[in-house]
Amino acid sequence: MINVTPRAFVFDAYGTLFNVHAAIARHRAAAGPDADRFSELWRLKQIEYSWTLTLAGQYVDFWTLTQRALDYAFARVPSVDRALRPQLLQAYQELDAYPDAREAVAGLKIRGITTAILSNGSPPMLTSAVAASGMAELLDAVLSVDAVRMYKPRPEVYALVTARFVLRPEQIVFVSSNRWDVMGAAAFGFRPLWVNRTGMPDEYTDRPPLRVVPDLSALASLEG
Ligand code: LAC
Repeated sequence: MINVTPRAFVFDAYGTLFNVHAAIARHRAAAGPDADRFSELWRLKQIEYSWTLTLAGQYVDFWTLTQRALDYAFARVPSVDRALRPQLLQAYQELDAYPDAREAVAGLKIRGITTAILSNGSPPMLTSAVAASGMAELLDAVLSVDAVRMYKPRPEVYALVTARFVLRPEQIVFVSSNRWDVMGAAAFGFRPLWVNRTGMPDEYTDRPPLRVVPDLSALASLEG
């Protein structure tokens, strides 16, 4: 796949290993017919807040942004009962991992490759999601943007990985389902893989991924 042997595979968390729509899925019947629109809006606002705050030179942790985005979604989609708020937040702390996530990370460990998460998530929410997924023992590090108090795609965030493992960017494969995160990782010099589970159109085409894969099971067949 690539010329230099990768030393580490680093994963984005939300949307890549953990299904951000799993919280609403657990309460779909109670959420009603606008559940999918509600969940999309919740996610979009959560990420928008991370970008706008970083551009403004501000930082508020991702768990707080997740709650603010949820409140915005409730305001925009009044058909979803606000009484679901505590259940949705509880579910978000223990999001389902995608069915292919654990096996993909385990397969890399068997090959002796270093594995890690690099995420916008706050340390407590990452600890909780990783524990719930049973992947804690498979990950060499769980790195949070909280250490630099700015969000992806700032290069300072990706530099947390090279600092932690004392590796050059080109020794690191970065795996994300978020195309804008792939852009940031490519700009930093990582070898990015884009997990395009839902057939989204390509964007940021001047910063392409090395490979596009439909899901994480494709990692097992990558050479290199
Ligand atoms: C993360 C965001 C991008 O986990 O979902 O970093």
